[in-house]
Amino acid sequence: MSESTNASETTRYGRRSAVEGTVYRALIRPLLYLLPAEAAHHLTFTFLRWFAAIPGVGPWLRRMLLVDTERSRVRALGLEFPNPIGLAAGFDKDAIGYEALGSLGFGFVEVGTLTGQPQSGNPKPRLFRLPRDRALINRMGFNNHGSADAVRRLRRPHRTIVGVNIGRTKAVPESEAIADYVSSAKRVGPFADYVVVNVSSPNTPGLRDLQATEKLRPLLAAVHEALNEVSPTRRVPLLVKIAPDLADEDVDAVADLALEFGLDGVIATNTTVRRDGLQSNASEVARCGAGGLSGPPVEHRALEVLKRLHDRAGDRLVLISVGGIETADQAWARIQAGATLVQVYTAFVYEGPFLPKRLATGVAELASAAGFQG
Ligand SMILES: Cc1cc2nc3c(=O)[nH]c(=O)nc-3n(C[C@H](O)[C@H](O)[C@H](O)COP(=O)(O)O)c2cc1C
Repeated sequence: MSESTNASETTRYGRRSAVEGTVYRALIRPLLYLLPAEAAHHLTFTFLRWFAAIPGVGPWLRRMLLVDTERSRVRALGLEFPNPIGLAAGFDKDAIGYEALGSLGFGFVEVGTLTGQPQSGNPKPRLFRLPRDRALINRMGFNNHGSADAVRRLRRPHRTIVGVNIGRTKAVPESEAIADYVSSAKRVGPFADYVVVNVSSPNTPGLRDLQATEKLRPLLAAVHEALNEVSPTRRVPLLVKIAPDLADEDVDAVADLALEFGLDGVIATNTTVRRDGLQSNASEVARCGAGGLSGPPVEHRALEVLKRLHDRAGDRLVLISVGGIETADQAWARIQAGATLVQVYTAFVYEGPFLPKRLATGVAELASAAGFQG
């Protein structure tokens, strides 16, 4: 059946209603493209928060868009996730809109990266679209108001499962990096459903060096201890987020370390500093400059890293897979390769507000089909 005669169409992104497809792709996205990428982000995020704050609208959106059924739910990290599709860190850096984002149907939202001290990040422009690759390049540099500010919102009761991603303040010398993570962990720990130590952003000089085991070891030990101290009655799940650019042996080493420290899991992966295999022309890519590349170009490596982690740790670690996921088939492939949960960021920017529901519905269908076959 043709698109025009059908109320819904089946695309590589899964099934979507004609209204969703037409309104977002033909109307809203082209208008947003008139704005610089970061301004478009602020505009859409502000609109969403405003819209969801209208009395009755947030719960209505949640009823319409959140897939939360027996077959969609996932038990992990001592929590029950309504579905396995999460929003990756970096979209809601300051924990200002996680309830509104949850009402769009995300099974969980990871806020941050939050740093020990507030910082403005890198000079603008620092976020770029590569539409031909459906990719983004960013060098935001952890712009955020700091973990102390975010806690004022995180301490409120919330319906959405919220992970809190913490990183290092740029101005802090390397010798105080651990203390900086610990200060954030102590603040956010009591209110986070899980905490992520981010050592994988390419935009804070020296940050990714913390992935080397000799540096990661004392960092993880200190954050682990800090969380036990501030939350003696509830164990706060602790995960580490890694880069796709790690060598295979280093991926293994992180898995070993995570097991050694009794960490709950690993999030793989962050953005890549590589630029190979892009469809966009070289000058367009060069104009963006330095930064982390996300979206489909990182898909292959994100899956490889996931498989490597799963081979090494089996089911002893909760693996959250992120990087280039756009379709329910891809999300399901990650789950089959060992992920318990998945996250998206770039596809949400390109595909719009109905993506979480589409992915969660598709994955639940694929899971039940696999169950019937098995
Ligand atoms: C604009 C932007 C900002 C990001 N900021 C963060 C961040 O603050 N902390 C973090 O751990 N990851 C950050 N990320 C990485 C994403 O969480 C994710 O790991 C990565 O984009 C790969 O997923 P995707 O291909 O679905 O976008 C950011 C990504 C983008 C595009």
